[in-house]
This record gives sequence, C-alpha cells and structure tokens, in this order.
Amino acid sequence: MPITPQELIANLGDLPPLPQVASQVLRVSADPDANAEDLRKVISMDQALTSQILKISNSAMFGMVREVTTLTQAIMTLGFSTIKSVVIASSAKNLYHRGTVGLQERLIWEHALVSAMASRAFAKSLRFPRIEEAFIGGLMHDIGKSVLGVKFPERYGALLRTVYNEQGICLDLELDTFGFDHAMVGEALVSQWNLATSLQAAVRFHHDPIHAPELHRELSAIVALANHLALEEKVGIGDPRHLEGATMQAMEILQLGPEALTGIKEGVRTVIEQDKTMIAEF
Ligand SMILES: [Fe+2]
Ligand SMILES: [Fe+2]
Repeated sequence: MPITPQELIANLGDLPPLPQVASQVLRVSADPDANAEDLRKVISMDQALTSQILKISNSAMFGMVREVTTLTQAIMTLGFSTIKSVVIASSAKNLYHRGTVGLQERLIWEHALVSAMASRAFAKSLRFPRIEEAFIGGLMHDIGKSVLGVKFPERYGALLRTVYNEQGICLDLELDTFGFDHAMVGEALVSQWNLATSLQAAVRFHHDPIHAPELHRELSAIVALANHLALEEKVGIGDPRHLEGATMQAMEILQLGPEALTGIKEGVRTVIEQDKTMIAEF
C-alpha cells in the first residue's frame, strides 16, 4: 500500500526545521517590495553566514577586481538572486552535514552542489525563466537521503555502501528496505517547510519527471538532467546509467533531441568546471 507523505512524516518523527535565516531570506527575496537593505539585515544576524558570503563573493568564481568587504557590497555585486542561492546553499549544507561528516555525507553534499550548478546552467541555456528556482531544486533534490541518513544511520549507511560498491540501485534498495524512497522523503520535508510547490515537485519527481504535475514538469526535467550530469561527472554515489530513463523523459518534456542535448551538456560542463571552485568555499 503506498504511503502518504503525512504517514511518512509520522513514521520519520521530527524532521529538521528549515534554518531561520534561510526561511527569512526566502521570504524577503519573494517580496517584490523588499530591497537590498532588508536582505542585508536578515543575513547580518548570522555571523558565520555573513563571512561565508564575503568569502564566496571574493572567490575565483566571480572574478572580482576589487575586494568585497561588506555585505552591502556583496549584495550589490552578486545580486539578489545569487545571494539567495548562496544562503540557501549554505543552509542546505548544514542540513546535509549533520553530526559527523563521513565520506558518504561529503559525497552527497558535493553531488547536491554540483547538481545545483548544473541545474542553473541547464535552466539558462534552455531559457527557463526561474533560474534560481532551478538552482534550489538541484540543491534540494536528494535532501531525503540526508534525512534517511540521520533517521536510520546504520541501515541507510549500509544501503549507501551497497550502492557505492555498485551492488544495487539506490531507489530499489530504499523501497525494499523502508517502503519509500529518498524522493518521497525529500518531498515530505520541503512541503513541511512550505517551499514552493514547484520545488516540492522537482524533489519528488527528479527520477521520474514525466509524472510531475504539468505545471512543474519542466523544472523537474531540468533537475533530472542536472542529477544525471553530476553523476556522469562522478560527483555523488551511484551509477549514472540508472538515470538514463529519467533523462529520456526530460528530453521528451523539454523537446530536446540527442544532438541538442549533447551541445547543451557541453556548455553546462564548462560552467560547472568554473563553478567548482565554489565547492572549496563551502
Ligand atoms: Fe535522487
Ligand atoms: Fe541525485
């Protein structure tokens, strides 16, 4: 019998809350009347986040000529939407990295970050209008894995080792072991956080975009392509060949032929190669 997200949350017990700064940044950046000063106030409440943003603003990724020393400068130079991505990425890192950080957590986090960068780059080349949403979708798509890792450290750790050693497929093993998979867990979490329904759909359907509600199918397809590309780049745990079905669906949704996709992927690889320096900053 299929399990509902509500039952899932009940089975999982308490889910990690969305960090307060992240939810305020989301609120401020969704508010059309909000300005840079509103954003600065929210971010400056968090010292660690502030210094991280300054560090990233000065990283190779943005190739600044002058050094960025204040939050206001950082917001001006990076822009509202990039700052939003950085804040969400930073909060997501804390969610992905809870407790002791072993190899598995590190791999899952790097996979999330590279998927986010790839997702943004795909969105840009496909002229998908909501680029930051694509970034956040890529970032959050596997958050269910981290929830499972926190809730069932031994069983899920063993499961990931099996996948890592190429002795099983992640989704199949999860369904066998728990009766649900990380995409369902992730959806339960982001819907509890009240993230946009488009993001809920992208998290839920990143392996199966064709079944996303029509309105959110393109975003789900973009995240699916990004997820596949990240594994092809050997960032993450799992065999990219198991994602070929999801990519076929994404191509259908986005009306992309094989040649067009190959061309776009080339461009995306170049972008994430440049963005990868950011991984070191997180
Ligand atoms: Fe996944
Ligand atoms: Fe993934």
